[in-house]
Amino acid sequence: MVEQNLPLVILTHSLPAEWLAKLEGKCRMVVGPWDATHFDPALEPYLAEAEGLFCLLTIPVKDDLLRRAPRLRVVSNMAVGYDNIDVAACTARRIPVGNTPGVLTAATADLTMALLLAAARQIPQASRDAREGRWITWSPAGWLGADLEGATLGIVGMGKIGRAVAQRAKGFGMKFLYTDIPLPPEVEAELGATRVELPELLRQSDFVTLHVPLTPETRGMIGEEQLRLMKPHAILVNTARGPVVQMDALLKALQENWIGGAALDVTDPEPLPPDHPLYDQPNCLIVPHIGSATRNTRRRMAELACENLLAGLEGRRLPHCVNPEVYERV
Ligand code: GLV
Repeated sequence: MVEQNLPLVILTHSLPAEWLAKLEGKCRMVVGPWDATHFDPALEPYLAEAEGLFCLLTIPVKDDLLRRAPRLRVVSNMAVGYDNIDVAACTARRIPVGNTPGVLTAATADLTMALLLAAARQIPQASRDAREGRWITWSPAGWLGADLEGATLGIVGMGKIGRAVAQRAKGFGMKFLYTDIPLPPEVEAELGATRVELPELLRQSDFVTLHVPLTPETRGMIGEEQLRLMKPHAILVNTARGPVVQMDALLKALQENWIGGAALDVTDPEPLPPDHPLYDQPNCLIVPHIGSATRNTRRRMAELACENLLAGLEGRRLPHCVNPEVYERV
């Protein structure tokens, strides 16, 4: 009886029950499969009645979907990035959109350092060689990698994650350049970071790491022109969004040794098809978008997404709202 009065929520993917404990007794849920790569057609009939949408970054939430969900009152994305969502279309309908900032900063910065170190020291190749019988003896000139100490790390995007990377890399004795709006002088001084324009950063850095959101301005910002500016031994790390880098240009840069290597947590498209030529590049390390994939972080992301969802259903301001203009009086 009571159940029927609860608002209906669509969860595009099934998630561990304990991550969703906050929703219990607060809404009715219809749930898509855990491995959905697109909005599951089986959820379609529920759109007409749904008041909340809990989605992952792989699900486009665009005008066409919003049109089919006229009662929607909140969209909660379990991710800090929200480039999968047409925020303007949500705002036009006065639907608040929630994301999950903060809780994944450390995990994503950790993975950035893991990729940077793995690429610098050729860990995937060395591990493969050991397992496949190519470890003949201690090899003085074998598996030589790059030093981090004294190397320059170029950080493209000095938001929360960029800064967390800088803090970690500082412990490795790296120097920093960054592009973004200027940091307060005391933060620059604490990190020892110098702000430069992107071409300068690319020319001077031994490692370049990307931490910008995907927007019309950042889409394709690293292409042939930019890759050709990088040092021939430089390593590019991307834990931001795949389309920030032009994949064809990156492939060419690796094949023709314009740069030393790449380590990618994100690609364009995702997933990258198994026969993609980037997988054949020995100097390219690819992992399946696992920046935030630690047990605690993913649980916290789900919990934040639940908090946003509940706030939207209850008519409260979302704790993390990307379009607060929906709360302005018209
Ligand atoms: C992951 O990529 C996120 O945006 O949370």
